[in-house]
Parts: sequence; C-alpha cells; structure tokens
Amino acid sequence: MKKIIITGKGGVGKTTIIATLSRLLARDGRRVLVIDCDPSMNLAMSLGISLSDVVPLAENKVNIHKKLGLDMDEQEHLTNGNEHEIKIDEVIEDYIVETKDGVKLIVMGTIPYGGSGCLCSSIALVKLLIGYITSRSADNDYIMVDSQAGVEIFGRGLASEFDFTFAITEPMPKAVEVTRHVMELSRDLGVKKQIVIVNKVEDEDGTECETISRELNCNAEQMYSVRYDRNVIEADKKGLLILDYAPQASVVEDIQRIKEEILRG
Ligand SMILES: Nc1ncnc2c1ncn2[C@@H]1O[C@H](COP(=O)(O)OP(=O)(O)OP(=O)(O)O)[C@@H](O)[C@H]1O
Ligand SMILES: [Mg+2]
Repeated sequence: MKKIIITGKGGVGKTTIIATLSRLLARDGRRVLVIDCDPSMNLAMSLGISLSDVVPLAENKVNIHKKLGLDMDEQEHLTNGNEHEIKIDEVIEDYIVETKDGVKLIVMGTIPYGGSGCLCSSIALVKLLIGYITSRSADNDYIMVDSQAGVEIFGRGLASEFDFTFAITEPMPKAVEVTRHVMELSRDLGVKKQIVIVNKVEDEDGTECETISRELNCNAEQMYSVRYDRNVIEADKKGLLILDYAPQASVVEDIQRIKEEILRG
C-alpha cells in the first residue's frame, strides 16, 4: 500500500487533482481511500457526493474516544495498540463512504464555531486511523490525503514516512515558494518521493516548468505539468466533475500521466 499526501498553496488545484487521480486509479482496479484533512471539506463534492452524506470524524471525536476507551492524550500512543484494533475497525466502518468509481472517503471535519480551538486533536485522530489502516495493508492499495493549504499538515507529522508528497503549485512565484517549503518539510518527515505538480500551465513550450524546475532543483522524474483547462472551471460552475463533464479534457490527459507515475511506484 502506498500513502500519498497532497499539499500546496491555496487554490492551486489540490482537490481537483486528488479527486481525478483517485478515480482514475480506481478505474484501473486499485482500491483507493482518500482522506479530506482540509477543514474546508471540498473533497466530498469533488467526488460527486453531498457533505450531508458524510459523517466527519471531528464532529464525533468524543464518541470515537469513548468507543476506543481513550482520553484525548492517549490517542497519540495508540497507533499499534492491539487491544483496540477491533474497536478501531468499527470506528473506521462508521466513517467511510463510497464515492464515484468506488473511491472510499473519510472526512476529518471542520472548525464547528468561531473560537472553538485548533485542529490538532482531529489531525491526531486521523494520524491514528492511518497508522491502523496501514497495518492492514490488504484493504487498500492507496491512501491519499488532501490537506489544508500551506504547510501546517507537515508540522503535525501526519505524513511521516509516507511514500509520496505531491507538492502542487501554479506557475506563480508565491506558490513556488510554498512548494519549496513543502518539499523541505516533506524530506524532514522521511517521505520517500517528492513530486512537484505544476498545475494551470498555459505556455506551450515548457518554459514555465523549466524555470520552476531550476528554482526547485527538481529532476525530470520529479516534475509533472497539468495544463490550464477552462473545462475545469466550467465543470465547477455547473457543480460537475471534470472527469464526467469532459473526460477527454487536456487536464484529464495530464493527470493520467501522473497516475502512471504512481503505478510505477
Ligand atoms: N488545470 C486547471 N485549469 C483551470 N482551472 C483549474 C485547474 N485546476 C484547478 N482549477 C480551478 O482552480 C480553482 C481551485 O481548485 P481546487 O479547489 O482544486 O484547489 P485547492 O488547491 O484544492 O484549493 P484550496 O486551497 O482552497 O483547498 C477551482 O476554481 C478550479 O476549477
Ligand atoms: Mg482543496
């Protein structure tokens, strides 16, 4: 089983890419679990289901802790706790929903009201579940985590020893700067492979990507480009998914190439 974290500056296309990629992998017969760790919770819609069909983990933290017989401080130490395995199994079942093409989804949850505090304990809970799911690698071929914009998720160590970081960027200096930081933190956490995905590329001759590649010191195997495609925006406006709205779109073709990279490992 491979674990992939997707992050980058706000609005660069993280959710669009993970939703499309996960469905393409599922269409190839791979078992894919995606986890939405962004409190903006856009991934459900991007996989064709309503948020009202999902029960976010964070809303039920107290119940989950009760079910696992834990207090908040304990959960960090539980990753390999055998005596809790059966109960964790039940917890996971309660919170997984099946979406388009059989992609399974877990949603971490959001900030319930102004001043309600940080997301640390919710992220710690997701980390615990990922640890457990990883120990039963027969259930999934891929776990992919969509994250909040920026680098916070790396500070929480959630992606520790993941297989891939997909650092999504646009061809804009500010987004590239965030990507540089993402790659540093990802290396600190021992993520095995850092892949830069330059999304919304508009030039035809590859100059933009070459410049970014030089700036980030990436080799060819580490960098993929996804073309700017007006169809993505049209699909979003209509509440449709790019893979259903325009399956032949250039953006889908480009994400297919990234899928091939993942399949190569
Ligand atoms: N290749 C593309 N071509 C054109 N528009 C795109 C492309 N990829 C994404 N977009 C558009 O960019 C916007 C942001 O996309 P998306 O929500 O996937 O980004 P995000 O990084 O997940 O954002 P956030 O940081 O808010 O989670 C959307 O309006 C989407 O339609
Ligand atoms: Mg997003």
